[in-house]
Amino acid sequence: MSTWFHDHRVFWRQFRQQFHTTGAVLPSGRFLGRALARYVGHGTGARRILEVGPGTGAVTASIVKQLGPKDQLDLVELNDEFVRRLRERLASEGAFQRVAKRTRVLHQKVEDLPPGELYDLIISGLPLNNFTVADVERILEAFARLLRPGGTLSFFEYIAIRPARALVSGPAEKARLRGIGAALEGILKPYEIQRDWIWPNVPPAWVHHCRI
Ligand SMILES: C[S@@+](CC[C@H](N)C(=O)[O-])C[C@H]1O[C@@H](n2cnc3c(N)ncnc32)[C@H](O)[C@@H]1O
Repeated sequence: MSTWFHDHRVFWRQFRQQFHTTGAVLPSGRFLGRALARYVGHGTGARRILEVGPGTGAVTASIVKQLGPKDQLDLVELNDEFVRRLRERLASEGAFQRVAKRTRVLHQKVEDLPPGELYDLIISGLPLNNFTVADVERILEAFARLLRPGGTLSFFEYIAIRPARALVSGPAEKARLRGIGAALEGILKPYEIQRDWIWPNVPPAWVHHCRI
């Protein structure tokens, strides 16, 4: 079975079993992956890069291609099945094998990473619009704590997803979506340095890049 087909099957099964945290029906497409990895090829020296919620490794594939020779990569993922798949790819797939010695798979929530860890670049695939406002605030606090001063955070969301969902939602859901919007504005307004529009994705997505 091809890797593509296998990973789509794994992802679909996790979407059905763990909808809330998986948050998408399919792995990200390659345009979204490339946009999320936009800043991996920038910069020099030994950098520490964290990918949050790598799933089956769709975005990781774009990251590993551009990893510098001294860069270190951490993948933080809470889903058992995705962790198993990532370890398998690191052990057996050319581009992943090449960086395996410099890559750690951390099987846990990003919020629980210890305070001492500091990264130059954080790339997040988390489905923030699925979470409670308190969860989103905790996750954004974790990003701020984990980023080195001057570091970059890249994350995505589906274009206009909150207004679209709000149209068909009751008051409690509308309030949740407004709360998430406000939490995200708190980092986008002061820190966003670049926004990519990814039309060839299902659904189309924005990738936000923030320097914090
Ligand atoms: C929308 S999927 C994205 C998967 C992959 N990056 C892609 O683009 O195909 C979200 C991923 O985040 C993981 N996840 C959700 N909450 C998490 C958390 N608090 N810490 C770490 N990973 C989390 C899920 O298990 C899932 O793999």
